[in-house]
Amino acid sequence: MREIPRDPSPDATLALLREGYRFISNRCERLGSDVFRTRLMLRSAICLRGPRGVRLLYGAEGLTRQGALPPTALHLLQDKGSVQQMEGTAHHHRKRLFTDLLIEGPAAVDLSRAFAADWRATLAGEDEAIVIDSASDSLARVACRWAGLPEGLTQDARFRRTLFLMSAKAGRFTPATAASLLRRRGAEARLRREVAEARGGSAETPLGRLAHATHPDGRPLDDAEAAVELLNLLRPIVAVGRYVAFAAAHLAADPASGASLADPEARRTFAEEVRRHSPFFPFVAGVTTRALSHEGLDLPKGQWVIADLWGTLHDAALWDRPQLFRPSRALDWRTAEPVFCPQGAGDVGTTHRCPGEKVTVALIAAAVEVLLSLGWHAPPQDLSPDLSRIPAAPRSGTRLVRLHED
Ligand code: HEM
Repeated sequence: MREIPRDPSPDATLALLREGYRFISNRCERLGSDVFRTRLMLRSAICLRGPRGVRLLYGAEGLTRQGALPPTALHLLQDKGSVQQMEGTAHHHRKRLFTDLLIEGPAAVDLSRAFAADWRATLAGEDEAIVIDSASDSLARVACRWAGLPEGLTQDARFRRTLFLMSAKAGRFTPATAASLLRRRGAEARLRREVAEARGGSAETPLGRLAHATHPDGRPLDDAEAAVELLNLLRPIVAVGRYVAFAAAHLAADPASGASLADPEARRTFAEEVRRHSPFFPFVAGVTTRALSHEGLDLPKGQWVIADLWGTLHDAALWDRPQLFRPSRALDWRTAEPVFCPQGAGDVGTTHRCPGEKVTVALIAAAVEVLLSLGWHAPPQDLSPDLSRIPAAPRSGTRLVRLHED
């Protein structure tokens, strides 16, 4: 058992805020190790980059996500009582709801068709657009309709913006984060009312499914539990707008690349490479619920462990020239390989791997199709992401002008 190297800083919280996505990679390189100890927010943490860390977070027994995220990020993202905070039978039972809806069901086709139609009509009616704002707003409209929410809520621009802010503001604590938390509480209250009303109706829509969902012992989910899971469908669909902004940035930087994307399979592998290349979900964290050994590491009970998703996706030991955007890598969300982990890895039914990958890839590919079907010009702008900001986006948001029907 090798001693785990230690980051010499007494507390690395400020370095994490400064270095953002690069925080774990920088130290792994400096220490010549895929694992190191540090202190963050005065708490002992073990950080890992590469497949060993990904396998720990997506497969090892004896871990929980409870207590692993700072409270603001937890409340803006998954929230208490959600699938992501559960383990064991309760987790597998709740997860089934998501995999049935998002992987087994027609969600990817339905959502990507609806998004392509809505976003295309929006862009065709405008002179210019900032892609991250425009695509996220369109995705919010489409997600609300797909979920079965009433048109009044779908047309509420403030509600749609709240869905965007939940993931946009989760990365740090500022006054804007606090405001987003308040807005999230308001959104949850509205969704609780929708769940209560849907209890009398059918289980056909995602809202209906959640209103009729049960715990493993047959008890129905209460209004608050169902509303939290409804947000777990709506919020991340809207967050795909960030990937769409990165996809548009690649097309804007290299307009000739559009010629190779006429075929749906080419748009799919383009979308997969967008997921690998773009800085989005930086790290995932867990806490050990008992002492455990994992691939040569001895971890005590209560140990905070953090796996570096972005660093694993950009590790030159694992990827050929990872800084290059190359759809020819032909990546596929269906793989269980721990190195391709933009939304987690491993077995989706029994680990915390994201159930939304199929939907995400279909939505990015649909966005590419929309962008290729319209005429536009990308003026000079800074398309590079600021890696100290979590979540990152192209600095300009990807601005397109002179939008027109081709
Ligand atoms: C926008 C692109 C997305 C990214 C970057 C992303 C990323 C992630 C990551 C990294 C996890 C694992 C968290 C952990 O291990 O603790 C996760 C879990 C989850 N994601 Fe996504 N996701 C995205 C899209 C989606 C979509 C479209 C949906 C649903 C419509 C979704 C629903 C969920 C849910 C419910 C979980 C919790 C799963 C569990 O705990 O078992 N995500 N996501």
